[in-house]
Amino acid sequence: MSHILILGGDGYLGWPTAMYFSDRGYEVTVVDNYFRRNACVELDVGMLYPVTSLIERAKTWHELTGKEIKVVIGDLTEPEVMRSFFDGRIQYSWAVDGNFSGIPETVFHYAEQPSAPYSLINYKYANITITNNLLVTNNLMFAVRDFSRDTHIIKLGTMGEYGTPKIDIEEGWIDIEHKGKKDRFLFPRQAGSIYHTTKVMDTDLLWFGVRMWDLRVTDLMQGPVYGIETEDGGQRADDGGRRTERSESRHLRTIFNYDEIFGTIVNRFVAQAVVEYPLTVYGKGGQTRGYLNINDTLQCVHMAEQKPAANGELRVFNQIMETFSVNELAEMTHRVGRKLGYDVQIEHIENPRKEAEEHYYNPTYQGLIELGVKPHYLTDDVLAGMFRLVEQYRDNIRKDVIFRGVKW
Ligand SMILES: NC(=O)c1ccc[n+]([C@@H]2O[C@H](COP(=O)([O-])OP(=O)(O)OC[C@H]3O[C@@H](n4cnc5c(N)ncnc54)[C@H](O)[C@@H]3O)[C@@H](O)[C@H]2O)c1
Repeated sequence: MSHILILGGDGYLGWPTAMYFSDRGYEVTVVDNYFRRNACVELDVGMLYPVTSLIERAKTWHELTGKEIKVVIGDLTEPEVMRSFFDGRIQYSWAVDGNFSGIPETVFHYAEQPSAPYSLINYKYANITITNNLLVTNNLMFAVRDFSRDTHIIKLGTMGEYGTPKIDIEEGWIDIEHKGKKDRFLFPRQAGSIYHTTKVMDTDLLWFGVRMWDLRVTDLMQGPVYGIETEDGGQRADDGGRRTERSESRHLRTIFNYDEIFGTIVNRFVAQAVVEYPLTVYGKGGQTRGYLNINDTLQCVHMAEQKPAANGELRVFNQIMETFSVNELAEMTHRVGRKLGYDVQIEHIENPRKEAEEHYYNPTYQGLIELGVKPHYLTDDVLAGMFRLVEQYRDNIRKDVIFRGVKW
């Protein structure tokens, strides 16, 4: 049985990833220090519903499936916490049996501060973002270097590393001819926030580790993710009722933010529409990005795990399935919300961010599809499904936390 380690296993993507792999027979260990939840409390931002502790979720998963997800509550900026997953000194916070599962064959690295506005609240939050994200990545790199160079690192990067250049965006690499000579380089990066800058630095750290020590790394340049329900959390049709039980268990649902700091745009717009708070389009609304369904994040990391990078390879994929401008997302949310009876309005507000509001955008994103990912697209029906889920928690949505206007 293959053993995987998920750094950031309590998060929006980490917990569904844990269920996904556990459901498929992998031995799964998750680690998290509740950074995200604590930040939500500290900044008083709204979660759509309360989320039970990681330990409680793992226990519920075990009760409903008979499968075990081992939990460690620990801070990965501490090198010894990171190293314990590789040298056997690990202390499980919850596990059915406390025996060391062995060195993981694959590590999924999600454990970062993932918000651009958070990183720009002020210098203090910028510092937290830089130290947290870079220390976790560096600790991981050295632990793998020192104990297990064959462990495959799958790291979540972001399309925001590239920014919005006036040329087509390649998947990670570009061939450059200069004064008659050619070489291959990482595609130029020009991040639009301190958070995105840490992601560029993460990539550079791991590229160093690949060149120096033959590490094997897949870097997934992911776009903003939308959605709540994943098939393992409840939505597979062929399950004879098993997954219905899971979907009804509120313990298994992943964290969902609808605020400006931690909410991703589609999730935010649906929540705003449900409480008839005008959809906040920053400036002209021509900002175009690549998006993907949460179920496709799971497929992508699975395919990357099944077909790993080689030793000495930094493999980069652009993890998006389609592109939309902010205006297009607002119009789609407006259309679907109106059909469902909501008085949805769109409001163009002064852009708190420094970014191009109309620009060229043509990224390549074939690599993961060639590996076998079958995209889910954002259709009116998919959006309507999100509306139906969010409206169950309508009374929890606080209008005062939707927009704060963190300025760049
Ligand atoms: N969600 C998106 O739309 C999106 C888009 C592009 C890239 N990403 C990247 O994907 C990854 C996961 O994103 P997410 O949306 O699940 O974010 P998240 O905040 O929900 O998950 C990250 C988890 O890591 C944990 N964590 C952070 N620092 C830690 C530390 N020092 N020690 C232990 N745990 C720590 C947090 O508590 C959190 O549970 C991030 O690296 C993010 O940059 C996310």
